[in-house]
Amino acid sequence: MSETKNKLSDPSGRGWVAGYKVIFPAMQHPYTQEEIDAVVDVMKNAEGQTQGPRLEKFEKDFAAFTGAKHAFGVCNCTDALKLAGILCRVGPGDEVIVPAYTYCATAIPFGDLGATIVWADMDPVTWTIDPADVERKITPRTKVIVPVHLLGIPCDMKRIMQIAKKHGVKVVEDCAQALDCRIDGQHVGTFGDFGCFSFHAAKTMTTLGEGGMLTVRDDEVAPLVPGIRHNGLRAFQGARERYWVPAMSNVDIDLEGQWPQNFCIGEAQCALGSLQLKSVVPNNEILIAQDRKIRERLKDVPEISFPGVVPGGRYVVHQYVMHFDGSAFGKTRNDLLDVLTKEQGIRAIVQYYPLYRYPLFQKLVGGEADCPVTEAWWDGSFSFPWWCGIDDATIDTMCDALKASVAALKG
Ligand SMILES: Cc1ncc(COP(=O)(O)O)c(C=O)c1O
Repeated sequence: MSETKNKLSDPSGRGWVAGYKVIFPAMQHPYTQEEIDAVVDVMKNAEGQTQGPRLEKFEKDFAAFTGAKHAFGVCNCTDALKLAGILCRVGPGDEVIVPAYTYCATAIPFGDLGATIVWADMDPVTWTIDPADVERKITPRTKVIVPVHLLGIPCDMKRIMQIAKKHGVKVVEDCAQALDCRIDGQHVGTFGDFGCFSFHAAKTMTTLGEGGMLTVRDDEVAPLVPGIRHNGLRAFQGARERYWVPAMSNVDIDLEGQWPQNFCIGEAQCALGSLQLKSVVPNNEILIAQDRKIRERLKDVPEISFPGVVPGGRYVVHQYVMHFDGSAFGKTRNDLLDVLTKEQGIRAIVQYYPLYRYPLFQKLVGGEADCPVTEAWWDGSFSFPWWCGIDDATIDTMCDALKASVAALKG
């Protein structure tokens, strides 16, 4: 494979990359025959390919899995976040508090609704949104707080909910990376007003590469979702002899001044989703065991640190981010990655910028942010190659390479 072709085909670093020792599997979770059969069955037999019984079943299965009161399948998590924003009546003049360290899709839907994004700093221990900083940044214009259980690390939801209650603001939890992430057994996404989940290909489970779910706590808000999700379509009530009069279905909206959207997910994705749900816990157990092994192998390397977890929290290790502190010998994360990638052959990466550093947010939100912990921490952060099912020999290879890199920098 030529270097150019390789770069073009694999900007994420997933898959085979020349010169590196650790090779990602082509498919992280190959589909089972049962899953393939379920999709083919929809292709052959489903009367309608969307909005049918498989959606209803997937939503029920998802609600049972998470303990959510209401669950609604949507085409991706970005749109689940947008739906939540719409249901919170977010619009121009409102402020939405979003952690600076997250994936860009956490903030985009709220900015798109016209809100001003206010960047929250991270807690130095859990690397998730800092409740104290959230409280400092609440103003009379704050409409929503968006805790993100990034990397599968649960946020401190007890404190976030206390703050939200005290100030009368809504909470939309971004759980895109946090399926099966819990606090004292309660699934994330069920603490706040809304929970937003992703079934993108890189997530714990996938519904053919894209997909999402919105969970809703309020019994009065939940009935608003199907119409907004599907262009305002709704059935006329009761039997109608002249079923075509005035038309097959009505088009309406229950939220004043709000246009509906089309965020629907198809039946094949839903059939697959119900089956994929069954593999979430066993796969997370594998990821958690991998994390344990890495921490054990690196326990004598004080320059490397890992996230802490709130009491009772279940960290499901969605990506493998660590922090390097080489200040004692004048070395940076970039010095470490120079050695780790170029000399030791481990394709480590740096996952996300703090969002306010990206051109998109500098143009649309402005460059200002008051996030000193994120600023300092991010300069030391990096990620290992990560997937479910890394064998022990590969874990040894990665840890030995990291130890050798740190030792080389220390001289
Ligand atoms: C934290 C976070 N939020 C939101 C999203 C958006 O999810 P989707 O790709 O399903 O729209 C992602 C996807 O990677 C994510 O990681």
